[in-house]
Amino acid sequence: MEDTVVLRGRRFRLLIPPEEIERRVLSLAEEVERAFPEGEILVVGLLKGSFVFLADLVRAFRRTVLVDFMAVSSYAGTESTGVVRVKKDLDLPVEGKNVLLVDDILDTGRTFKKVLNLLREKNPRTLKSCVLLDKPERRVEPVEADFVGFKIPDRFVVGYGLDWDELGRQFRGIYAMEE
Ligand code: IMP
Ligand code: MG
Repeated sequence: MEDTVVLRGRRFRLLIPPEEIERRVLSLAEEVERAFPEGEILVVGLLKGSFVFLADLVRAFRRTVLVDFMAVSSYAGTESTGVVRVKKDLDLPVEGKNVLLVDDILDTGRTFKKVLNLLREKNPRTLKSCVLLDKPERRVEPVEADFVGFKIPDRFVVGYGLDWDELGRQFRGIYAMEE
């Protein structure tokens, strides 16, 4: 496993190694399943950052799962625009379902708050949320996830689905940008 990676001349250092992510994702899957009432779980992933985390999470579930995706506008580069727009909506119905919203990282909370509200309006039976990473120091909107993989400091990270201008999604570990 590389200790550092370089993307477009910027250096990123390993913050969370793959084995640690793997262990945490397995325990998260158990926690999540225990928290839902009986029946299938509709897992809603936010594109694109959640795709790797979601793939590992659903494969750790014993329950029947349905998978759907939403795409909302978020970052250009590393700066939050503060504007959240739905680019791709769900295909599957949410009403009466056990719904788990999955995202890669909870940062300012703008995206998460908006999407949670949109899902709540569709009258799910249960609505819970799960993120791999949480940067509590960055929060602008008062919103938390029910399940968090790792709390991390205010550093820009890539890997395991997370990108820096579309780069770095394929790394197995999480890497933090060097100052
Ligand atoms: P929020 O609306 O500010 O919470 O933005 C959350 C979204 O911003 C995440 O789903 C990511 O796509 C992106 N984001 C926030 N922090 C990072 C980071 O450190 N690396 C990569 N993407 C990030
Ligand atoms: Mg994202």
